[in-house]
Amino acid sequence: MNTPQAGILLPLPPLARYLSFSLEPSSHPSDSLRALRDLADGERTVVGFGRLLVSALSEEIPGLRAFPALTGLGVDVPATPMALWIWLRGDDRGELLHRSRRLEQALAPAFRLDDNRDAFLHAGGRDLSGFEDGTENPTGDAAREAAIVDPKDPRLGGSSFVAVQRWAHNFSRLEAMTADERDLSVGRRQVDNDEIDDAPESAHVKRTAQESFTPAAFVVRRSMPWVEGNRGGLMFVSFATSFDAFEAQLRRMLGTEDGIVDGLFKFTHPETGAYFWCPGVVDGRLDLSPLGL
Ligand code: HEM
Repeated sequence: MNTPQAGILLPLPPLARYLSFSLEPSSHPSDSLRALRDLADGERTVVGFGRLLVSALSEEIPGLRAFPALTGLGVDVPATPMALWIWLRGDDRGELLHRSRRLEQALAPAFRLDDNRDAFLHAGGRDLSGFEDGTENPTGDAAREAAIVDPKDPRLGGSSFVAVQRWAHNFSRLEAMTADERDLSVGRRQVDNDEIDDAPESAHVKRTAQESFTPAAFVVRRSMPWVEGNRGGLMFVSFATSFDAFEAQLRRMLGTEDGIVDGLFKFTHPETGAYFWCPGVVDGRLDLSPLGL
């Protein structure tokens, strides 16, 4: 029976690297993907396949759809589809560099590396805005249930669907806000992580409260801060058994129904957005049989 890629359910590593690849036109990716299967263990190297790649293999993964480009009042959520996504988890920057070079070489010439972002654990699990991230994540069996397709599912059991967005923070705007304004935009106090009961409807945790949706919208968030020079933000990563919960949360953040935009947009915005399917693991290797490999 398939097990999930272990990195999905494990706690965040101290360091990480996110690689996004596009497919070269008219390329034949099968050999590169077999090489990838030998290199990726699902624990230190978590892999997701985009719809573009699945269609290039003339296959279909039910539930793997295109990331929606959406707009709210004065805010924009772009869709930037990618063929392949790799999350390298580690604790040594040099080792991450060498591992990503090996992957890039194994994937050439069919795949081109489009984005390569270093990420890290900040202040014990805080976003670069200073707020603790991941508090309301389901844990244990609840996390497995939220993130991993039922192992009994004959085709996709053990696999997962991941939404990935690179958010870039506007640090000048953040620095110009008072501590109260920041707290109210999130709906938790930065200083002690307590939820603010009378936070406005725009507060992020009010917009996204997982139990407030019908059906409940549980996801397993594994986001990490990223930095490049003096730019930075959050690589938002959420695993689930479908994209429905993420999309419901995102639409609420944009105020699709009530016109209220999430307070987070005061200091951050998404630069990318893509969906991937993360296969399960069988005998220690990625199970690529749903892709005909
Ligand atoms: C830069 C972008 C983001 C930042 C800095 C951020 C930060 C936070 C923080 C500080 C919390 C409260 C602590 C916690 O429960 O983790 C939180 C909760 C949450 N966020 Fe975000 N978030 C971001 C983007 C998103 C996006 C794009 C979504 C989904 C579309 C999302 C979904 C959630 C959910 C589901 C919760 C838990 C809500 C609950 O059930 O209480 N976040 N986020």
